Amino acid sequence: MKNPVLFSGTSNAPLAQAVAGKLHISLGSVEITRFLDGECRVFIQESVEGKHVFVLQSLSFVADQHLVELCLLGAALKDLKASQVTAVIPWMGYSKQDKAFRRGEAVSAQLVAQFIETAGFDRVVTIELHSQNVVPFFHIPVTEVSTEHLLARALNRKDFIVISPDRGGKSRSENFAKNVRLPIVYLDKSRDLTTGAVSVTGISGSVVDRDVVIYDDIINTGATAIKTSEFLRARGAKKIFFLATHAVFAGDAVSQLTRSSIDRVIVTDTIAIPKQKMFDALQIVSVAPLIANAL
Ligand code: R5P
Repeated sequence: MKNPVLFSGTSNAPLAQAVAGKLHISLGSVEITRFLDGECRVFIQESVEGKHVFVLQSLSFVADQHLVELCLLGAALKDLKASQVTAVIPWMGYSKQDKAFRRGEAVSAQLVAQFIETAGFDRVVTIELHSQNVVPFFHIPVTEVSTEHLLARALNRKDFIVISPDRGGKSRSENFAKNVRLPIVYLDKSRDLTTGAVSVTGISGSVVDRDVVIYDDIINTGATAIKTSEFLRARGAKKIFFLATHAVFAGDAVSQLTRSSIDRVIVTDTIAIPKQKMFDALQIVSVAPLIANAL
């Protein structure tokens, strides 16, 4: 690839910097500011004509702002005649809203895909999509990078039972269990669509005196982590690990996780985690090598 350039949005500058380091390039020069009324303005400060350009931006909190910023960057780079512009979206915000769960809701993930395409991006690189339903919403190539091996290496243990926390994540957990060659036990989890309250009602096998690894894609409110770990502890599990790619950590997720009996929470840096959201049991592994490789 001729002269690749990587630009960073404001959502996850440390990750963009780490990816640039892995690629032995420096980040593209851009000024991203806000007008007094809060509207975003981007100003690309170098020539990108004929170049293959990447923009790294997670659609994390505040997702709406980060999405607009990403789209403005894409449009500006296209205007400057970059030959190809790829959106590198480590955390695909809005992917949870991949269908209208109730009549009257929008299929938000689809509209977000349309925004990204309309901005002029030619390709998307993302990590562990919450739902495969998101891929066909795009009409440009989407490359999804898996964190399975990265998380397995970080856990660095070979003597546990893999726990699938819910039906939605069944195939994800099954792939993980298959790759680490360990048994899997399934939980029955349900979530109230209005309140978001999570309850765990069943388990497919015994976890008595066993160490368990709950394998999920996201920690959002933390409700799944808390409820599943309490359930497993009550059924005799010994050490409890929680592995998830995306540390959304919404609301009071961090204080709940801090108080929980989970022994270790392993996540990645697809979403930048500020210092005040760190806690003792938290381990963060970087996806920078995976992204660098995918680019
Ligand atoms: C469920 O569909 C997902 O795989 C996660 O379990 C869920 O999004 C986690 O959300 P929360 O932390 O709010 O329970």
